[in-house]
Amino acid sequence: MTTTSSMAGKTVLITGGTCGIGKATAIGLASLGARVGITGRDRPRAEAAAASIARESGNAAVDVFVADMSSQTEVRRLAGEILAAYPRLDVLINNVGGFWAHRHVTADGLEHTFALNHLASFLLTDLLLERLTSSAPARIVTVSSGAQSMGRIDFDDLMGERAYSGQRAYNQSKLANVIFTYELSRRLQWTGVTATVLHPGVTSTGLGGEDMTRGWGPVIAVLRPFMRSPKRGAETSVYLASSPDVEGVSGRYFADRKARNSNTSSYDTATTARLWRLSAELVGLPLDATVRSAAR
Ligand SMILES: NC(=O)c1ccc[n+]([C@@H]2O[C@H](COP(=O)([O-])OP(=O)(O)OC[C@H]3O[C@@H](n4cnc5c(N)ncnc54)[C@H](OP(=O)(O)O)[C@@H]3O)[C@@H](O)[C@H]2O)c1
Repeated sequence: MTTTSSMAGKTVLITGGTCGIGKATAIGLASLGARVGITGRDRPRAEAAAASIARESGNAAVDVFVADMSSQTEVRRLAGEILAAYPRLDVLINNVGGFWAHRHVTADGLEHTFALNHLASFLLTDLLLERLTSSAPARIVTVSSGAQSMGRIDFDDLMGERAYSGQRAYNQSKLANVIFTYELSRRLQWTGVTATVLHPGVTSTGLGGEDMTRGWGPVIAVLRPFMRSPKRGAETSVYLASSPDVEGVSGRYFADRKARNSNTSSYDTATTARLWRLSAELVGLPLDATVRSAAR
């Protein structure tokens, strides 16, 4: 049986909440009574999305935060604004993500897919962790993809400098989401903060639209009628953020609201330790940052 509870009195932050799965997740959680904060890069677009979320959910408690999360400076500024705005944070949904057919480099000199899909969530989670632990019981939900099952963390070419493929970079970043969640969950034991990760299902959104190649556009146009609606794609995110069924459940990968096995390498502790160490280095955090901020 799957049940949802009222989210009245709870505050939820959803990264990438201006459209697609993130916006539908915001509508779902605002409809359950939560105060919802959404992030996006462009203020007018984010404010229009917030107005639409408020209208569709009948809940006016929707806040907007603006940041380009591919930049670590921006993620740090964003975290500061969230901490100033929210004295408590019950749920963090790391939803932001993208697909780039061509290799791009961020302001920090990192490959865009890895920087946005994995490192931005890694850094933001760490910066908000103390607020989440002081609000416990709290939940961290990260949106991965079924693509994680085809992923491989290429430690010899993490940034795709030698050979870049959009699909390989995406698969790798989505596997990193899973590995991050499993290790985070271990580090958060006994804190009352859970960490889960999910595949939303193939959903009709703007994903990849910024950088679509001639090869992918027609394929997606053909597949679009068979894809899920954003509302349906948001179901597992809403479930993991709100349902009493998953109270206390941590370190699991979900699809269609059911726990599933993930890529075999996501259970490999050597891969996990290496990825965590590299991620901490790439965002300039001490290796034990999460442990220390959770323990404070
Ligand atoms: N769609 C699918 O079939 C599918 C399947 C599996 C997993 N997923 C995952 O689901 C998540 C949501 O994807 P979606 O399909 O809903 O994508 P989407 O419609 O393209 O939405 C992406 C969201 O991220 C924001 N965003 C993009 N780049 C950003 C940046 N640099 N800084 C800050 N915000 C940024 C966008 O906001 P602005 O453009 O307003 O800035 C938007 O709100 C992603 O993690 C994706 O990997 C999707």
